[in-house]
Amino acid sequence: MINKSSQVGNWINLAGYDVFVLEETGSTNDDAKNYSGQIADEFVVWAKHQTAGRGREDRYWQATEGCSLTFSVLLRPIEKEKEFLSRFTTLGALALTDLLSSAYALDAEIKWPNDVLIREKKVSGILTEITWRGSSIESIILGIGINLKDRAFTNAGKLRFPATSLEAEGINIESMQTLLEKLLAALQLRRQQLGSAQFLDDWNQKLAFKDKFMPIKQYQGKTEMLCPGSINPDGSLNARDQAGNWRVVHSAEFSASSIISSSTSSSSTEDCSS
Ligand code: BTN
Repeated sequence: MINKSSQVGNWINLAGYDVFVLEETGSTNDDAKNYSGQIADEFVVWAKHQTAGRGREDRYWQATEGCSLTFSVLLRPIEKEKEFLSRFTTLGALALTDLLSSAYALDAEIKWPNDVLIREKKVSGILTEITWRGSSIESIILGIGINLKDRAFTNAGKLRFPATSLEAEGINIESMQTLLEKLLAALQLRRQQLGSAQFLDDWNQKLAFKDKFMPIKQYQGKTEMLCPGSINPDGSLNARDQAGNWRVVHSAEFSASSIISSSTSSSSTEDCSS
């Protein structure tokens, strides 16, 4: 049972969120899920060291101690937000791009559906999970991992996608706690416009690899070279195939093996207009 006088962690308040701070845990998403039924409000679990972080498609999320910010925000969508569930995955990504732009003048992009890139390299990944009570949504958990230093991922072996860190991009954060606090504040601001046209416009504006052919893998389909064009209100992606036909992709992610094997990430992409 989690409570405010817990022996395993401390509660602090950041940007209006109760944040449970753990020195070490397996996965903050798992913790948030476990606590979901015990805490009525929204809350955050932040682990200073995460030993069994999970990524999308059951992948492992590497996070060397002291080199990553790893946390999960448990949100309880209100009725009008439930129409926009597909946008929650982007909420954390857009909030991070907002923060990088406003606080560090850095122009980050979003690799559809929800990785944050700086100069076409991944700096943050987001794992969104939903918990249900019967047929109704109990919570949405946004699990966010941010590479603070290159050592966050350099022990990870072969990467599926080129990676970078805030430090490598010239950002010196004051402290993990301050970064987390600013990010939670940015997330709250963005959440207010979840269902708006502005949210979609900004997502489109931040879409990475626009007009470049990329291998796009559909969860239950093959991998194809497609060129991302724009995002639809339901979060699906309009992408052009090599024959020039437009397609709507609902649930996929970039598979970047061709990028990893090249020395620079941009050299393996192809301009759509060519
Ligand atoms: C991905 O890129 O595949 C998503 C990675 C998400 C990692 C974060 S770290 C905090 C939270 N806890 C987890 O176990 N995973 C997410």
